[in-house]
Amino acid sequence: MDYLKIQGTPSLSGTIKISGAKNASLPLIAMCILAKNKVKINNLPDVVDIKTLLKLLSNLGSECSFGVNEVVIDTSMMHETKATYEIVKTMRASILVLCPILARFGHCEVSLPGGCAIGQRPIDLHLKALEKMGAVIEIKAGYVEAKAPKGLKGCEIIFDKITVTGTANIVMAAALADGVTTIVNAAREPEVVQLCEILNDSGITIEGIGTAVLKIQGNGGKLIDIQPFSIIPDRIEAGTYLCAGAITNSELTLTDVEPKHLDAVLAKLEEMGFSFTTTSNTITIHPTDEIKPVKIITQEYPAFPTDMQAQFMALATQANGTSVIEERLFENRFMHVSELQRMGAEISLNGHIATVNGKTELSGTDVMATDLRASSALVLAGLIAKGETDVHRIYHLDRGYDALEMKLKNAGANVQRLKE
Ligand code: EPZ
Repeated sequence: MDYLKIQGTPSLSGTIKISGAKNASLPLIAMCILAKNKVKINNLPDVVDIKTLLKLLSNLGSECSFGVNEVVIDTSMMHETKATYEIVKTMRASILVLCPILARFGHCEVSLPGGCAIGQRPIDLHLKALEKMGAVIEIKAGYVEAKAPKGLKGCEIIFDKITVTGTANIVMAAALADGVTTIVNAAREPEVVQLCEILNDSGITIEGIGTAVLKIQGNGGKLIDIQPFSIIPDRIEAGTYLCAGAITNSELTLTDVEPKHLDAVLAKLEEMGFSFTTTSNTITIHPTDEIKPVKIITQEYPAFPTDMQAQFMALATQANGTSVIEERLFENRFMHVSELQRMGAEISLNGHIATVNGKTELSGTDVMATDLRASSALVLAGLIAKGETDVHRIYHLDRGYDALEMKLKNAGANVQRLKE
């Protein structure tokens, strides 16, 4: 297994190019199951989760031909409708194939994804919505078995909770349903917006894109002609590198980024004393005289993203004063805390609320990654810790960060990827 060896770095400089968004790529790859033509996807990030989903599509009989950060997906020969545990257990977002397969073939079996480190991650809202659209759902031996031999029917779906992949799944089901589907309490994340925009551009009329109420005009089960598209920039990768610039108090420029997807993150960094210069596709963070403490509550987009919570926890250790971070989406998303504490961070937990006292000097040591975003928080801490930090189990990082150590090295960090 690989690990990252990080020496404390006085500061970073230069530019970091942001890759395509992992969480936009996953539903858009699943969407290709609805296509009647070969679909060309550009600006695809080179991360493990994308490879996993493309492998799943190949196992189902699709053909994927790869270029650099691009893929052409041909699902015309798709014949399998069962997504097996072997793949789904490694990436719970595989659940995104459930609705496209069901909408296209009238039946589908997908292994229950199981929980993950950050929480139980149920899919009850996906399944309840599908049943309302006429699917018959059974859970058998750890698999979801869904049937809709006569196709799915458009109807009104009201999500009890905002669910990102739940919204994406039902949008894809609705695209081939008979009649209109209205989704109330829909997720508004940019990744869901791009899925709706691509479907809308491909002839599936969707009203309310970017709002909490989506109205999808289904085409009654016909496959869709999907034009080539390019994945939007990864706002969480961008936020992570903004925190790298912040924690080292550096001047750092991100390119190929979409600033408007980062309003809540930029607002919190401004509260902490940082300032920015932005253009349509770049953000430069400027150093501050003093890093101020911050209060953060994670909520659905456009509020502060849970996927940036761990990174801000690392940053808050360098603020002069007490920061408070409340995690409202996942039940177990504080696993980075114990590792940060081992580096000297003063963090106390009370249920879903973490209190971080700063400024504390962190010391390098061996730390263990536990989930994707927690791993990035440990890398950020390693950038400013005294001495050497070895971050183990970085397969978590490789799931969602494209060439992280190369990007940090190019910005002046002392990071090496080594073998255990
Ligand atoms: C997506 O996960 C992202 N993953 C996550 O990013 C992100 O943290 C999360 O949205 C929240 O923004 C992808 O897009 C692939 P949810 P998702 O369904 O869709 C509850 C990363 O680091 N819920 O929006 O699985 C659930 O338990 C990953 O890139 C139900 O109760 O999250 C949670 O409390 C981590 N029943 C809340 O809703 C359901 O059927 C939000 O979950 C579905 C969800």
